[in-house]
Amino acid sequence: MIKKINVNELIPGMFISDFNCTWLQHPFLSNNVKVKDEKIINKICEYGIREVYIDTDKGLDVAHAQTEKEMIQQIQTEIEEVIESATEDTVHKKQTSFKEELVNAGKVIEEASQTVKNIMEDIKLGKQLNIETANEIVLKMIDSIIRNKDALVSLGRIRKKDEYTFMHSVNVCVLMVAFSKHLGYDDKTIELLGMGGLLHDIGKMRIPLSILNKPYKLTAREYDIVKVHVKDGCDILAQSPGISETSFLVTSHHHERLDGTGYPRGLKGEEISDAGKMAAIADMYDAMTSDRCYKMKILPTSGLRELYELRGIQLDDVMVQEFIRCFGIYPVGTLVRLKSGLLAIVIDNSDHNLLQPKVRVIYDANKEEFIRMPYEIDLSQSSGDGGADSITNYESPERIHIHTLSYLP
Ligand SMILES: [Fe+2]
Ligand SMILES: [Fe+2]
Repeated sequence: MIKKINVNELIPGMFISDFNCTWLQHPFLSNNVKVKDEKIINKICEYGIREVYIDTDKGLDVAHAQTEKEMIQQIQTEIEEVIESATEDTVHKKQTSFKEELVNAGKVIEEASQTVKNIMEDIKLGKQLNIETANEIVLKMIDSIIRNKDALVSLGRIRKKDEYTFMHSVNVCVLMVAFSKHLGYDDKTIELLGMGGLLHDIGKMRIPLSILNKPYKLTAREYDIVKVHVKDGCDILAQSPGISETSFLVTSHHHERLDGTGYPRGLKGEEISDAGKMAAIADMYDAMTSDRCYKMKILPTSGLRELYELRGIQLDDVMVQEFIRCFGIYPVGTLVRLKSGLLAIVIDNSDHNLLQPKVRVIYDANKEEFIRMPYEIDLSQSSGDGGADSITNYESPERIHIHTLSYLP
């Protein structure tokens, strides 16, 4: 059985099955480690890890600890409570339908990706950063998000593996714009935060490709080289006339963590700017939920759960809660499993339907076959229209080999 425990409950003889942190933050080659002696426990503590998962079938047990299943259920319930407590004015009003915005959002994403590629190529060649082009694309993204944020957010999640660095920059920009708009920032600040998101990893262009695209876990030395991208990014921005302080802070603080375990400066709490705190959440969420060369993505719901677990420790508590309210646990375009055994795509989660969205049923998992004529269900309805059904979990689209966006209205 998998259980989650505090590191100070670790004793020799236990078997760690997960460090409850991203791969890069712990010094072991694998996530599976037998705790042979106190030295291993000390090493885990040194890296600032607070909680780990243990496998009680492979090592010693702690009787009172929550099982992984209980813990996931508890966090899920708490996240649903966070969403339910959203106030009227934080619910995103949409000017156009998802379908209407999708074509435009597709063009914007395409253009943004090309812009970031060009900017990064320029940096590699030692040319000056083209601020005007970057700014133009940020403004187009803002327009799309104002019309209907779901279109750009859904498209931002889709990417080919080799496009990670470009698309990650584009998507952190999308998330920063949507998130700052949700938090009520003024138009100019939203623009500057978006710009920061687009450029936050620009220093990565100075990392050798053999490290940047390495398909395995990085060595400690390689990780040290990766960390320099923050300083390099700041140097590039400092030499670029017209870059604002806000955009600069997004870059310089996006790997800092509240508890001081971040880099490059190990800043703590209020030493980290709000721009940096927001960027840390957006950056981490995108990195966790997309395929990278050394780590497979996790589903958005698991991504939110990980952010939620880090709230108040590494990430700002209030901001994590607002991020969850902004993007919801069932974003448009995601595949979910219903109580009835049907699989469906979320097609509308507007207004008060973040937990009970409208879905389009496409697959019958009981019969393991696709529905010939996909149909819609409004899960917020208590009866009729299939309304008595409810979401039990996320499903991976890869499992049934589908491209979710092609099923959207
Ligand atoms: Fe970064
Ligand atoms: Fe990043």
